[in-house]
Amino acid sequence: MNTIDKFNSHVMQSYGRYPLVMEKGSGRRCTDENGREYIDFGSGIGTNSLGYCDEKWADAVCAQVRTLQHSSNYYYTAVQADLADRLCNITGYKSVFFCNSGAEANECAIKVARKYSFDKYGKGRHTIITLVNSFHGRTIATLSATGQDVFHNYFFPFVEGFVNVIANDIDDLKAKLEDKSVCAVMMEYVQGEGGVNKLDKEFVDAVYELCAPKDILVIADEVQTGVGRTGKFLAGEHYGRKADITTLAKGIAGGLPMGVCLVNEKCSGVLTPGTHGTTFGGNPIACAGGLAVLDTIESDGFLDEVGKKAEFIKGELEKCSEVAGISGLGLMIGITLKTKDAHDVAARALEKGLLILTAKKKARLLPPLNISYDELKDGLKILIEVLEE
Ligand SMILES: Cc1ncc(COP(=O)(O)O)c(C=O)c1O
Repeated sequence: MNTIDKFNSHVMQSYGRYPLVMEKGSGRRCTDENGREYIDFGSGIGTNSLGYCDEKWADAVCAQVRTLQHSSNYYYTAVQADLADRLCNITGYKSVFFCNSGAEANECAIKVARKYSFDKYGKGRHTIITLVNSFHGRTIATLSATGQDVFHNYFFPFVEGFVNVIANDIDDLKAKLEDKSVCAVMMEYVQGEGGVNKLDKEFVDAVYELCAPKDILVIADEVQTGVGRTGKFLAGEHYGRKADITTLAKGIAGGLPMGVCLVNEKCSGVLTPGTHGTTFGGNPIACAGGLAVLDTIESDGFLDEVGKKAEFIKGELEKCSEVAGISGLGLMIGITLKTKDAHDVAARALEKGLLILTAKKKARLLPPLNISYDELKDGLKILIEVLEE
């Protein structure tokens, strides 16, 4: 039986997959089982931040595999301490909780926000405002937080205590913040799965300015925007804002499963022994991958280059007659198409040797952060050919 048939016989069919059996990768290119190469403008949904099997990253991960693969959180490891220390130094946060995915990082943020409020104000102040069209994950609590009905079918009943505000609607925000049960506002600075839509600066400012006097926490879901994706380590830096709680995942460990919940001083004592945990959280191998990613991202000029590459891509795409508009921030790019269906474009690009993503009706690009201009040119040539076909 071939791989696709075997796969489909035994793996639950919860994903629509492209007919590509990926075998290996190197740099910004991967190879299928027939030896055909593809340029990757998707990074495994923003996760392979340094492309495939980056040498220094692979060396660090392999060395850790041969030293200590897992310890559980009953014990300490130097590699987890080092990553926590580095992340706090880079971001200015006080402490971190390590987990294994974006949804789990957001679960942690939700628990921290509710317990912070419970500890200080008692029962009943538990509501978390999230935005219409947001995406926060697939667990029942993070689905409850997600402001998109399309993900809510079948899985009722949901967790109570989530209310949605229309993104960029300050009046709606003000009205919902009147509710005395609100303890936090959670938002993505750029709604990724929702269509690569950047929040207005005025709205983000209003969130911070309206929440602070009421001691309502701000949670930034930077699972997709974080770790250099937008040309800054955190997308909040573009807005001159730092949330009380920020969540990371996707790119943090260069393709290994890791989620991080970062909290400021006032939230750092909220989780106490026994209140939260996860067996694999802070796994030494993922931490070693994370440290290698930070080494590269923190190297001189790296993040400025991310911004420049994003401008280059936009400049090239704007010349294309099929492109109606470009949204996003840094190397998180949404392309509104004039006539073509984004899914057809992605399928056709794959046939021609380029991997891209979609978000709602847009074509979406999340290339590896260390992609070269030559690779960008090669990939864009294919994409523009497909768009102009
Ligand atoms: C902003 C955001 N939050 C949370 C998630 C969920 O992350 P994970 O799939 O790792 O659970 C995603 C995934 O796309 C995301 O983009």
